Formats: sequence, structure tokens, C-alpha cells
Amino acid sequence: MEILLLGNEALKQKAVPVKNITAETARLADQLIDLMHKGKGIGLAGPQVGVMERIFVTHVTGDEPRVFINPSILETSEQTSKYEEGCLSIPGVWADVVRPEKVKLQAWNEKGRAFTLETSGILARAVLHEYDHLEGVLFIDRLSEPKRNRVVAKYKRRR
Ligand code: NI
Repeated sequence: MEILLLGNEALKQKAVPVKNITAETARLADQLIDLMHKGKGIGLAGPQVGVMERIFVTHVTGDEPRVFINPSILETSEQTSKYEEGCLSIPGVWADVVRPEKVKLQAWNEKGRAFTLETSGILARAVLHEYDHLEGVLFIDRLSEPKRNRVVAKYKRRR
């Protein structure tokens, strides 16, 4: 399993719900967590490894690794914040992205247990960034076109 990079069509596609949460799903979650840690990232989603299912993981500083399966966003705050983001699928470049400051979502974990999470700050940002991956959206898609072009050009120069 490896992380797909910008330009791979899988990153632009919408992922489908996980039908049954099984031991295989739990194994996939473990693999995603391992890859995220190896890449020193704080989140990783199924489509980033070519698994077009609605699953992602996060691990932000001060938190434990978390697994989100079939997440639904229930609420986002009107209040937004701007923070520098990167992505394991676009290594080596970062840009400020505006997102809601808070998010409330519902999902299932790798044991098949449903949970609700209301969070803010860096975890909210990670969750929203990873959720975007399930919709085929990258953080650079949330930038103005000139800014996106500059970030992509910089990424290409670095490859
Ligand atoms: Ni990403």
C-alpha cells in the first residue's frame, strides 16, 4: 500500500460507504494509521491509498489515533479560521486554508461502534481536510485559482 500523489485520478473521485465494518476494515484502519505515522502526517483517507471507501484516520498532537468510518458532518460553525495545511498526497508544499473553526460529526470506529465528536482547532481542521478527501476534494481546491497555481507549480518544481 502506498500514498497516491497529486495527479492520480483516484484523488478526485468520491468514495462510497463502507458496507460492513469487519476485521478487514480494522486492518485497513491500522494500515492507514501506520502510513500516516510514517509520513509524519496528522490524517490519511482511504482514497489516498486508492481505497475508494469512506474511511479516514487522524492523529493530532495530544490526541490518540482516531478512525472515522462513514462519517456525516452534522454541524460546522460559522466562525472560520485560517491555518497552514499540507497533505501527504501533495508532499513538500503548504498553504493557508480557511475552514470552519468547529465541527460536529457522527461516524463509526473500527470496532463498529457509532460515536459523535464535537471538536475545534487542529482536530476539526484535520477532520474537515480528511472528509474532503472522501468527496474527491484536495486542500488546494479550496484556494483561489492564482494561489492554487502557485502551489501546484512549486510542488512540480520540487518533484
Ligand atoms: Ni490530505
